[in-house]
Formats: sequence, structure tokens, C-alpha cells
Amino acid sequence: MAGDALDPGIRFLPEARLWVLSAGEMSYVFGVNEREELQHVYWGRRIRRDRDWSPAASLPQWDGVDPSTNTTPEEYPGWGGLRFCEPCLKVVFADGGRDLVLKYVDHALQDRDLTLHLRDLGCDLQVDLGYHLDPSGILRRQATVRNGTDHPVVLESAQSAVWHLPQGPDCHLNYLSGRWGEETRPTREEIHPGSKVLESRRGSTSNQMNPWFAIEGPGEDATEEHGDVWFGALGWSGSWKLVVEQTPRLDVRVTGGMSDFDFAHPLAPGESLTTPPFYAGFTARGMGQASRLFHRFQLERILPRASSGRLRPVLYNSWEATGFDVDQAGQMALAEKAARIGVERFVMDDGWFGARDSSRAGLGDWRPSRRKFPDGLGPLIAHVKKLGMDFGLWVEPEMVNPDSDLYRAHPDWVLHFPGRPRSEARNQLVLNLARDDVKEYVFAALDTLLSENEIAFLKWDLNRNFAEPGWPVVPVTDQRRVWVDQVRHVYGIIDRLRLRHPGLEIESCASGGGRVDLGILARTEQVWPSDNTDAFDRLSLQEGFSLAYTPKIMMAWVTDVPTLNGRVTPLTYRFLVAMTGSLGIGANLLKWTREETDLAARMIALYKSIRAIVQEGDLFRLLSPRKGRVAASEYVARDGRQAVLFAFSHDPQFGREAPPVRLRGLDEEAVYRLRSLEGRLDGPAELSGAALMHRGLRLDLKGDYGAAAVLLERTE
Ligand code: GLA
Repeated sequence: MAGDALDPGIRFLPEARLWVLSAGEMSYVFGVNEREELQHVYWGRRIRRDRDWSPAASLPQWDGVDPSTNTTPEEYPGWGGLRFCEPCLKVVFADGGRDLVLKYVDHALQDRDLTLHLRDLGCDLQVDLGYHLDPSGILRRQATVRNGTDHPVVLESAQSAVWHLPQGPDCHLNYLSGRWGEETRPTREEIHPGSKVLESRRGSTSNQMNPWFAIEGPGEDATEEHGDVWFGALGWSGSWKLVVEQTPRLDVRVTGGMSDFDFAHPLAPGESLTTPPFYAGFTARGMGQASRLFHRFQLERILPRASSGRLRPVLYNSWEATGFDVDQAGQMALAEKAARIGVERFVMDDGWFGARDSSRAGLGDWRPSRRKFPDGLGPLIAHVKKLGMDFGLWVEPEMVNPDSDLYRAHPDWVLHFPGRPRSEARNQLVLNLARDDVKEYVFAALDTLLSENEIAFLKWDLNRNFAEPGWPVVPVTDQRRVWVDQVRHVYGIIDRLRLRHPGLEIESCASGGGRVDLGILARTEQVWPSDNTDAFDRLSLQEGFSLAYTPKIMMAWVTDVPTLNGRVTPLTYRFLVAMTGSLGIGANLLKWTREETDLAARMIALYKSIRAIVQEGDLFRLLSPRKGRVAASEYVARDGRQAVLFAFSHDPQFGREAPPVRLRGLDEEAVYRLRSLEGRLDGPAELSGAALMHRGLRLDLKGDYGAAAVLLERTE
């Protein structure tokens, strides 16, 4: 019908002065109101008819205490005028003025990219609001703030975006909290009046909180399969903040970006700052679909292009086996064992460089220890390659031990305040990568390492948070740039290294899952979700992880028992749990029995046969390990021809049998051939999608830490 938005994309309706962004399941609409402010109009299920929209009009005031400027949902409110909600931008001008009221100037629309130009009502402080619409319906927003005045200004807050949800009560917020060893713990709570702040003030993404949210409602709870869900995540690996606010009018908004705690970013005349991207999407098909949409988006749009077609190799990592006690002979022996069970990438973890015999020394000195590797890394790498694997190495480039040659030469290279303590954590200090000389040193050290050795992969670690974030050699007004520049320069170093060493792959690790976000994921192939490798704990941790992030990047190692909980689980269980992500081995293979080694070889071969489905298929979380005694997840290949089901049992009681597991995401009419990968499977060898999804499969799950896996193949 003429005048209706049939095609996905971005449309400007000039008469109404509205922009309609439609893709996937959603429409996102905003316009210019009678005060020339950019006003949010709608975000939710797709609305196709242009004539359904009216021009943006400011909302009425609610008595004198809640004026229209406060109730009206703006796309990017400055802090100024009568505004009391969380602002997106807060500025101090050279004359001390702190009033900022942003008005619409004009826009530029090109295909899926829309830029709105805003300007302060009085002076030349400009904001370019960028919107990029992915065909999946995921929207990327970010802002560039430019100082067009003749004097310096200071930004006290520069958020990436605010997202407005439809008005209504009974919204629920889901987020991922945690701590070391217990990252990505899903938390769900009702949104109440006031603000809930999710944040990291630690200089990095953090193990404590992840910059992701999903909101259900208003008025209706979502399940895995049903209900409206608005979700999003930041692409930033420094301190960050998400403010989930319910206004006096019961509107819910989510403002997010770099943390404004201790933030004071100067802009000289003509200078600009671009905020990190903030991605968000909508689905009416529940939490499961929200995850699947986001996973696919990460696979197709976020993760490095260069490796996007490659499946994650099965890796071996030495950390849990040898700790700091690595040397050439020991690593060669492990590598031989690893190759025999089918490992494709051998990674030597901490302990190989400088005087690194414990966490007390060596960080910063990125040269192989002469004692442990008398001829450098060459012989070990050659051995690993001869065994048919590629070689990976652990580094922690942003850090330094005071007991290191680097620190002895450059004690001023760390974040610190003069005359104040330099607080150590894990015996280390944070290098000030905002400094050009430090940045160049770190780049050169890694570049040399990669140029001199055939290293296919770096495990890039970060094992402490910022403290005393001083940068004494620059003027006081510039010192707090460190919050932004530190992260930017880490990104810059990685980008340059990848350019110079095109085959290089990287894993992001930060004492486990302390740096998992869409900023680092644009530069790394995979992440280490947690140092906790207890398989039963991992089920919960991985479930939380999967709410936001794709299983392809989720490294999962099989390690030795007992674990940090003192728990002992069967090796088969440990394998199947790790096979629900990207499989790795972290055990001491030299101590494994013949039976364990054979089992491992069989499991790794099995994993290789299904990993494309796990790593790149659609994940359905069937039964949560946090509820009940059976946990199950299912992965359906993109083309729907295959699926894998994993199920795990624990704490059985009273002789009760495990309930049937009902699958999802299959074609009701199709018939699937069932093949047990692990565990007994009674009943017919073929079942229809309808039977599998509605009646379910009864699996042979008994005892503590039972595990089963089934492959389903669609028959013609
Ligand atoms: C961190 C990582 C571990 C390991 C150690 C090495 O704790 O999370 O996986 O690499 O550092 O010191």
C-alpha cells in the first residue's frame, strides 16, 4: 500500500519529521517535537503503516515539579534546563556554565546509517547521533560530541545512548552479575521507581557485572519462548555504566556508556569524542530468541571478519596442569599427549617469560626465560607444529610486576599518584597505556614476540583492576583522559598486531570472565568465561553467559578433579559439559590413565563431528541447571538439518526418574533420525519433530552427574 513501510530499513517521513527504523521484528521511531528536541516515539513490535504515526509532541508537565522537559523522552538529553532524569551528556564550559540543551539541526541518511546533528541552543557544542540498523533488527547507537566553541570544555558524562521502553508497570530487568569464579550469574528483578545502576568502576569490564541487559514487560513476564524482551549490550572494555531508570511517569529508560564516575574528559576547540557503541534489539519471542538474535549478530557482525568462517579449534592449555612451572621438556611432553587425543592448538600459559616463577615477578619482561627455554621458544613451537598442532601463548601486556626489568627501568610508567601508595593486586601494577611511550613499548614487545616465533594465538589476560589512576606527567586537566585512552590504546595495539600478523587469533581473559563485552569481541575470537572449571558450576555459569553471548566464543576446558568445590565428576560428564561451548582441555594429561586418554580421544573426535552445530547453530535452553535435577540444552544447525541435545542430571532423590526432555526449534512435520552420542537411548530410532517437541525424549540419566548427548538428523 502506498505510503506504508513494507521494506525494512530507515525512512524519513518529512511532513511528520519522523524517522522510522524497521527491521527484524521491531520498529524504532523518533522525531522532532515543537521545541526542536529529538523525541523518542516508539520501540517495539513492528508497525508497518506510515499513517499510524503522528509527529512527535512533547508530553505535558505533571505539576510544576515534573515539567514537560523532564517527562518527554528525548533521544539524547543534555543536562540542562528543567531536566532531572539521567542525562546522556553533561558538560562544563570554559566560563563555568553547565547548562546544555540540545536541539535538532539536520540529518543525513544513507542506506542503513542515519546521523542526526544536534547543537546546544546557545553555543557551538555539537552532537552527532549515529544509528546503524542491522537487517536482524539490532540497532547500534553511538554519539560523537564535538567542541565547536573557541574554548576548551570538559565532558563530565558522555553516554552512548538512552533506550526508552513502552510506558507501563511490571517490567522486569535481567542482568548478569558475579565475581571471580562465579561470573555471569543471571539476576532478575522487578523494576521499581528510581534508578538501578549496573556498572564497573574498575577500569575494565569486570567479573562483577557484565554490560548487558534484557527487560521483560511491561505487564507480561517473558519465558524462554514467549513474551516481549528488549535487550542490549555495550561495546566497551573500560569502566562502564547502565542506568535502568523508572521515571515518576513509570517510563523505563536505559542510559548507558562509559562510566561517568571520576570522569572528566577535556575537549579542546575542534576536538571530538566518539562514545562506544551501544547495541540493542527487540523480540516478542522470549528470552531464548533474544539470545539467538544476539548470538547470530555477534557471529555475523561483531567477531573479527578474518576468522569468521573458522570453527574454534580444540585447544590444550597448560595452566591447571603446570601452573608457573613450565619448561621446554615438560611442555613438549604435554604437547605429545595432547596431539595424541586430537588437540589442534597447544597453548602455553603463564610462567614462560622473564623471572616468572610465581605471580611475584616478571610481568612486563616479554622474553622467554633463559633457564626454562635455553634456546627460546623455537624448539617447543617446532615440536608442537610437528605434532600437527598450532601454538598459542599467554600474555598479560597491560601489567607489570614491580619485580621486573621493565619496572626497574621505568617506575613512572604505571598509573599512580605522586607520593601516594602504589597498591598492588596479585603483586602487580597497571601500566599507563594512555602514554604513547608505554603503548609503543607494549606494541613492540608483542610484535617482536609474534615476528620471531610462529605464534597462532594469544591468550590475552588482565589480572587486576585499576586503582590510584593517576597520570602525573600531563596537566591536571588532561589526567582523567586515562579512563578513555587506556582502553582505546589497548584496542589500538590489538588492531595493529592483527594487521601485522593477519593469521593471529586472540582469547580475551581477565582473571576468568572479566573482559567479555562487544568491544573486545570485535578484536578477539574467543573468551575465557571463568577460572572456575567445576563442570557442575559451569552449567550454571554457561547458561548465564549464553543469555548474552554466543557459545562459539565460550571456551570450556575439561580439567582434573576434585575442583575448587572439592567436587568429583565423571570424565564423560566433564567432557559433555565442555562440549556445549568451544572445547578445550586443561588437565594434566601426563597423569591420565590409558582409559581416560582413550575416552578423551573418543570425545574429542565426537566433538569435532558436531562442533559446527554447537558453535554456529541456534541455542535452545531447554532445562535450567538452576532449577530441577536435569539440565538440558539443544543446538540446531542453521539449515535445520541437524541438532544436538545435551542433558545432565544431578541430585536425584526418592528414586524419581528424570522427566522427558522436550526439544524445540524443530520442524513439526519433519522426521528425525536419532543417534545416541553418549548414554542409552530407548525407543524408536526415528521420531517426528512434533513428537520430539511435544512428547519429548526420555534419556537414560541416572545418579549424580549423569550425562547424555543425542544427535538428530532430519530425514528426507
Ligand atoms: C588468570 C587466568 C588463568 C591463568 C592465570 C595465569 O588467572 O584467568 O586462566 O591464565 O591468570 O596466571
